[in-house]
Amino acid sequence: MKISPFKIEEWMNRYEAGALYDLTTTCIKPLSLNELLKLAPSADLNEIFNRPLGYGDITGSERLKTAIQSLYTNQEQKNITITHGAIGANQLVFYSLLEKGDEVVCIVPTYQQHYSIPESIGADVKLYFLKEENNWLPDMEELEQIVTSKTKLLCLNNPNNPTGAVIPNWLLEEIVEFAKRKHLWVLSDEVYRGLNMIGNPYSESIADLYERGISVGSMSKTYSLPGLRVGWICAREDLINEINHQRQYNTISVSILDEYFAAVAIENREAIRERNINIMLQGIETFTNWLTAEPLVECVIPNGGTTALVKYKNDMKSRDLCKRLQNRTGVAILPGETLEMEGYVRIGFCAIALKPALDLFSEYLHQ
Ligand SMILES: Cc1ncc(COP(=O)(O)O)c(C=O)c1O
Repeated sequence: MKISPFKIEEWMNRYEAGALYDLTTTCIKPLSLNELLKLAPSADLNEIFNRPLGYGDITGSERLKTAIQSLYTNQEQKNITITHGAIGANQLVFYSLLEKGDEVVCIVPTYQQHYSIPESIGADVKLYFLKEENNWLPDMEELEQIVTSKTKLLCLNNPNNPTGAVIPNWLLEEIVEFAKRKHLWVLSDEVYRGLNMIGNPYSESIADLYERGISVGSMSKTYSLPGLRVGWICAREDLINEINHQRQYNTISVSILDEYFAAVAIENREAIRERNINIMLQGIETFTNWLTAEPLVECVIPNGGTTALVKYKNDMKSRDLCKRLQNRTGVAILPGETLEMEGYVRIGFCAIALKPALDLFSEYLHQ
């Protein structure tokens, strides 16, 4: 099977490790196990240290599924399956739902999986580009024009990577009404759910709102544990059964060690959230101050997630800009071209040493 190069992942593999200041990151300072256990004092390590390292429960431990269930209003264990990160979750959804010739509408910019995997399956993929003037939110009239009677699946990412836009609940409800009318499945990649900076940190989840809604979540962003490689899919039971059928061919089960620490983290999510919201709020303040003082960039300020999409006032191609910036200053940022957004760069505002890195970026822009 042929598939397009995964542009972001290729860029990060090449440039992230050599960076002195890594603003390509989408994570909030990943936790060590020691840090996690300090935030989760009730964890009993004997329990996991004495457990035989078998495959465990094939579709995920009851404890982890119970913890995940508590993140939703309307889900039971039979509506959940555990995956190898959100990346594994998204892939399983596409493999389970799509066939050659199916029409898919994907809201971009987003994680490239959402259009490149459907394309590789032979689906007819239409990209709907969010606009800065709409604060990077979908416009229902524009969506109406792109979705046809043949469209099977609508893909979105809420809160959004790279823009940091959060779809308000009233607009999510409009999307659900629209999807009902058009009889669409809706895949919502919700790996940044719980990281809204304004109001309730948790947006509504599509799986709770709509019977053909599929929610994907993971430990990587909201819980600062990307190294656990645990994600999940929440959807109606017949789709989960179909996904589990596909899953037997690429997962068997997810590591019981990873599942154990994932359950501990979700059970103690408030302590992790408090730590993370502090890092986010400091990051967004530094970022906003920089934006205000820097005339050569423009950006809609994120209200969730961990990244911002910044337009720069310069003709240089984004790949050239990012390469030269990193060579001269050691600051790594992500070129917009890797997100189909030429003329922009993505900045992770929860990065360590954000201020000196942004100052170096400014110096570079003014040279
Ligand atoms: C929107 C989105 N979905 C999925 C992933 C993959 O997440 P995971 O580490 O859980 O596989 C990422 C990682 O950056 C992401 O930003």
